[in-house]
This record gives sequence, structure tokens and C-alpha cells, in this order.
Amino acid sequence: MTDIESHPRLISLEGGEGAGKTTVLNALRETLLQAGHEVVSTREPGGTPLAERIRQLLLSPDGEKPSPETELLLMFAARAQHVRETIRPALARGAWVVCDRFTDSSYAYQGGGRGLDVAFIAELERRVVGLQPGLTLLLDLGVSQGRARASGRDAQPDRIERERDDFFERVREAYLARAAAEPKRFRVIDASREAATVVADVTGVLREWMAAA
Ligand SMILES: Nc1ncnc2c1ncn2[C@@H]1O[C@H](COP(=O)(O)OP(=O)(O)O)[C@@H](O)[C@H]1O
Ligand SMILES: [Mg+2]
Repeated sequence: MTDIESHPRLISLEGGEGAGKTTVLNALRETLLQAGHEVVSTREPGGTPLAERIRQLLLSPDGEKPSPETELLLMFAARAQHVRETIRPALARGAWVVCDRFTDSSYAYQGGGRGLDVAFIAELERRVVGLQPGLTLLLDLGVSQGRARASGRDAQPDRIERERDDFFERVREAYLARAAAEPKRFRVIDASREAATVVADVTGVLREWMAAA
């Protein structure tokens, strides 16, 4: 995939619901700020006003259910906007960008979870995104543990969170397969440990990454 640019200042967080992505994102943001960097922390689907509107369409449990293909294309429509309006401008001015989910989520959820063709997803990635994180932290956690943590939050589960366990097992397997296929980009983090331990682990990985970048 030589036509996809890898950027060292773009870092993505991946993993199932309740794995601790938002918790870790806040810690990474703090570490980067303390090192004197500009940081843009953002999320998918979303990250621009239009992309956040697409997020509402995707995640609302009400109304007509999108087909898997509709879901995939809306995810990439939001991502196209996010890359052009938020991520690329931030990288161009020298900021670090920490993203709560990115293209790997489409491979895991729409590819692994929904069973859509991975070659089609790769084609969308190449034509629509053209950009990959230099570093992707995969927070790996068992499905039932993730569910238990996510249900501890006050928010109602969104449309995708309402899927069954076998869907999330396929998501987890797809993530782990991607991590195994791209060991230079991915770090698999055991997210079953207590939050302070996970945060110490990921901030350690980030410090090494910053020193090398
Ligand atoms: N390592 C951990 N151990 C126990 N609870 C955690 C851990 N990391 C996060 N949590 C809690 O679990 C819930 C989900 O974490 P969150 O960061 O929102 O996950 P995500 O963004 O991946 O869905 C939150 O209530 C959070 O405080
Ligand atoms: Mg979150």
C-alpha cells in the first residue's frame, strides 16, 4: 500500500466499546501537552460538524436501519471530511493528532462484524483516506468485560453497541488479525488491567514514540 501515507504524528486508538479508548486518549493528550506540543484530539465517526451529523445518522437507534453497505459508506463519508477538514490541516501546522477510532474500526466493524468485503474497504481507504496513523494502540479486552464497563456509563447504548456478543467477538478477532499483520504500526495493549496500569503502559509507548519521531 505504497499510496497510503503514514504519518508519525497521527496516533489512533482502537478497541471495542468500554475498552478504555477515551480514558487513554485523555492521558495521551496530557503527555503530549506536557512535552510542549499542540494536540488535536478527535473521534470517529465525527471530528467535524458535518461528520458529527453523519455520526448521529449512523448511531441513532431510532428509525430506519442502515444496510451494512450504507453504514460502510457513511463511515467513509464522515472520514473523508474528517481527514480533509481536521486531521490534514492539524498535521500540516505541526500538531499531533490523537484519534479515538480511525480506519481500522471500519475493517473491524464493517469488515469483521458485518462481513463486508475487505478488499472494498481497502479500496475506500486508498481512494478516500490516503492516510494512516504512524502508531495505533489497540486496547484489547474480552467482550463481556467491555460490555460490563460500557454499561457503567450513563449514556444509553447506541445502535452499534446494541449488537450481539458474536458480532463483537468478530470485531475483536478482526482487530487482532490486523495488529498481527502490521506489527510495526500496532501496539496491542492488554486493557483488562486496572486503568492506572493501562495508562502507564500507553504513556510509556507514547514517550518512546515521541523520542523516535
Ligand atoms: N482499565 C480499566 N479498568 C476498569 N475500568 C476502566 C478502565 N479503563 C476505563 N475504565 C472505565 O470503563 C468505562 C469505559 O471506558 P472508556 O474510556 O469510556 O472506554 P471506550 O472509550 O473505549 O468505550 C469508563 O467508565 C471508564 O472509567
Ligand atoms: Mg469512548
